[in-house]
Amino acid sequence: RGGPVIAVDGPAAAGKGTLARRLAEALGLPYLDTGLLYRAVGRLALDAGQDPAQPAEKFAQALTPADMQRKDLRTPDVALAASKVAAQPAVRAALVDTQRRFAAERGAVLDGRDIGTAIFPDADVKLFITASPATRALRRFLQNGGDATAADAQTLLRDMEEALSARDRADASRDSAPMCVADDAHVIETDTLDAQAVLAEALRFARERL
Ligand code: C5P
Repeated sequence: RGGPVIAVDGPAAAGKGTLARRLAEALGLPYLDTGLLYRAVGRLALDAGQDPAQPAEKFAQALTPADMQRKDLRTPDVALAASKVAAQPAVRAALVDTQRRFAAERGAVLDGRDIGTAIFPDADVKLFITASPATRALRRFLQNGGDATAADAQTLLRDMEEALSARDRADASRDSAPMCVADDAHVIETDTLDAQAVLAEALRFARERL
């Protein structure tokens, strides 16, 4: 490989994307959000009027860079569809080469669920970023422009937490490359850390290994 591979895995809305982007910038490496691959496949299945739990391999095989740059991939319905297509071994298999090739030339930082366990089991650095469901729900709520002081904030937060937890349970319990902590991953609990502190801890660990 032309450079180091850094795997950033963890549950939904734990801050993987923020960390992985900053890590890539700090280390001068390309960055790939692998969740976008599954979101784009889920989006294509929905667009075709198909239940995303039905075989979606053909959408994964036909995926183009433009599909991944669509602006409508960050919605809750697409997240759920992504999780459903991501449980299909044939969909996962169709996306492996894309992810490996991305890192071939210069190395890369990749965030997802199975980067350190299935895509790059020999990654130079493995991080698993996590936080309590309540913290993750609040972060995603605020990120979506939610007002935590609004009258319905408690209900919305509870719904958000339930949706994230349901997706995590599905991602962790599927047979094909389930989300789990790699044996040699460094786990960072981010409940009491801000983005800057998470980056500092990740860089400290990465620099020991690079
Ligand atoms: O990270 P993000 O929330 O965008 O991922 C959407 C869904 O894609 C996840 O819930 C998971 O089911 C799937 N995914 C995956 N493996 C990855 C990245 C995402 O299965 N490496």
